[in-house]
Amino acid sequence: MAISLSGIKPTGKLTLGNYIGALRNFKAMQEDYENFIFIADLHALTLPIDPIELKTNTLDIVAFYLAAGLDPEKTTIFLQSDVSEHSELNSIIQNYLYMGELSRMTQFKDKSRKLNDSAIGLGLFAYPALMCADIILYNADIVPVGEDQKQHVELCRNLVHRFNTRYGKEIFKMPEPVIPKVGARIMSLSDPTKKMSKSDPKGDIFLKDDLNIIRKKIMSAVTDTGNEILFDKENKPGISNLLTIYSALKNKTIEESVQEFSNLHQYGEFKKMVANAVLDELGPFQTRYKEIISNRKYINEVLEKGAIRAKKIAHKTLIKVKKTVGLYVHE
Ligand code: AMP
Ligand code: TRP
Repeated sequence: MAISLSGIKPTGKLTLGNYIGALRNFKAMQEDYENFIFIADLHALTLPIDPIELKTNTLDIVAFYLAAGLDPEKTTIFLQSDVSEHSELNSIIQNYLYMGELSRMTQFKDKSRKLNDSAIGLGLFAYPALMCADIILYNADIVPVGEDQKQHVELCRNLVHRFNTRYGKEIFKMPEPVIPKVGARIMSLSDPTKKMSKSDPKGDIFLKDDLNIIRKKIMSAVTDTGNEILFDKENKPGISNLLTIYSALKNKTIEESVQEFSNLHQYGEFKKMVANAVLDELGPFQTRYKEIISNRKYINEVLEKGAIRAKKIAHKTLIKVKKTVGLYVHE
């Protein structure tokens, strides 16, 4: 069975963008792939974070995974920091990535621009190296992510090629990023030219927002002055974003949704339908989340079992890499 792997880092509050761009697709993979889904808690340390917040976010994401329908019998759910092989492999493969290519990463440029040079941590710069270790430890064939993570997976593909060429064999499998056809980049409701991002609360729908608040946020989403419901990212970014949200949640193509609304010349009515689609999805999701988050024993069990399963595979890869590069491994 082919292998799918992905993760989310536990910083900030998860948004509808995370749900549509990532979470939902993690669940879709578990039927057809051997599925590894983790919480990238080591990655969360790449920018300063309060320890209590980190822990709370981590538990929340486990509960979100389960509430989104990940089944621990089918998907290995674990914490990155529980499997020390991630850090060990990272310290080997970071030598095969170059400063030049790391400094061209959009995420690094965006995040470091907001900081003083003296406050940019080495981990933020080396972020994609650890992410690559995450992927190759499990021989992932596919990596379902939103658009913003594609560049990191592509860098990992370069590393795989470089490493395999250097050692003359197929040590690592070549991973493929899988980006959703609809919803790879959900935009902010207050500024539809910006990504909906968990570190920027304006215009975000948070997965834990009260349902009434979610409805209000959608009803007051920024649109244009027209009244036609058309997909045109340039001239109608707000309406296009709402069409994307609606289509993704209803499993429709954009064309199908545009067709559905072709006789509706009222943004207000359209927004109501988008809000209903979001609430139909997030209402039951929130109920499941609340049940799971109050059952800490269950969460612990899932993580313990997941870490054992993940470690078995990760350890095998690490030994293989150590042997390949010439580190002494006791036989
Ligand atoms: P992050 O919030 O950056 O940790 O991202 C976690 C996952 O959600 C990654 O796969 C992202 O690509 C995806 N993601 C984050 N924000 C969005 C968004 N606004 N639209 C679609 N996918 C997103
Ligand atoms: N960088 C990803 C994010 O911010 C999280 C992540 C870490 C990840 N390691 C990964 C995603 C490996 C896919 C595969 O969302």
